[in-house]
Amino acid sequence: FFQACIFDLDGVLVNTAHYHFLSWKQITNRWKVTFTEQDNESLKGLSREDSLSRLLHITGKQLTPAEREQALIEKNELFRQYLTQMTPDDVLPGVTACLRFLKENHIRLAVASSSKNARMVLQKTELTPWFDVIVDGTEIEKAKPDPEVFLKAAARLNIQPHQAIVFEDAKAGVEAALAGGFCCVGVGQADILQQAHLIIPDFASISPSDLWISLSGLSA
Ligand code: BG6
Ligand code: MG
Repeated sequence: FFQACIFDLDGVLVNTAHYHFLSWKQITNRWKVTFTEQDNESLKGLSREDSLSRLLHITGKQLTPAEREQALIEKNELFRQYLTQMTPDDVLPGVTACLRFLKENHIRLAVASSSKNARMVLQKTELTPWFDVIVDGTEIEKAKPDPEVFLKAAARLNIQPHQAIVFEDAKAGVEAALAGGFCCVGVGQADILQQAHLIIPDFASISPSDLWISLSGLSA
């Protein structure tokens, strides 16, 4: 039976996935190239650097190394402007009830995020105290779809991958979880997250007790 839940942060616990998109969108507007929310799906979960590479690939834009560096700085400045305005209202619907339910049932909780801003996001949204373990983008060498961030979280929880369930909204994140040997719940669109063991649209669409029953089936 599972002992822990490991959550991706952006797009699973908080609505920051949209802020990451809006930040990149301001940059692509300046480049005068098309970049849609659907295009953004393949950037989700990737590190800042890998997101930029992917963005250049999608849009066909070319940058010098110095321009690349500048784009990364600008993107983070734009994202951090959203971050300063963030409050507990940015926690996605149903998330707190789910965390409370899991905690009451003695499940240990972790966050495993590719973001170097993860601790700040958790602080602004007042989610930090829920988690036994937090691993962020400053502590890993290989970003998702590499499983490193999830394996590090499991090691710190002192459990094996098969004893934990990962929650992910990104294709790269689901791939990372599966590569690490974890059970994975996709949170979002079924067509994008089809490799996950279970898919829920969001935490507001399922009661904590129904989710619990589904999770028990997964890890039986
Ligand atoms: C992930 C997001 O959590 O963090 C990605 O899904 C983002 O969109 C990545 O690129 C890196 O975030 P940051 O805050 O270090 O730029
Ligand atoms: Mg995410």
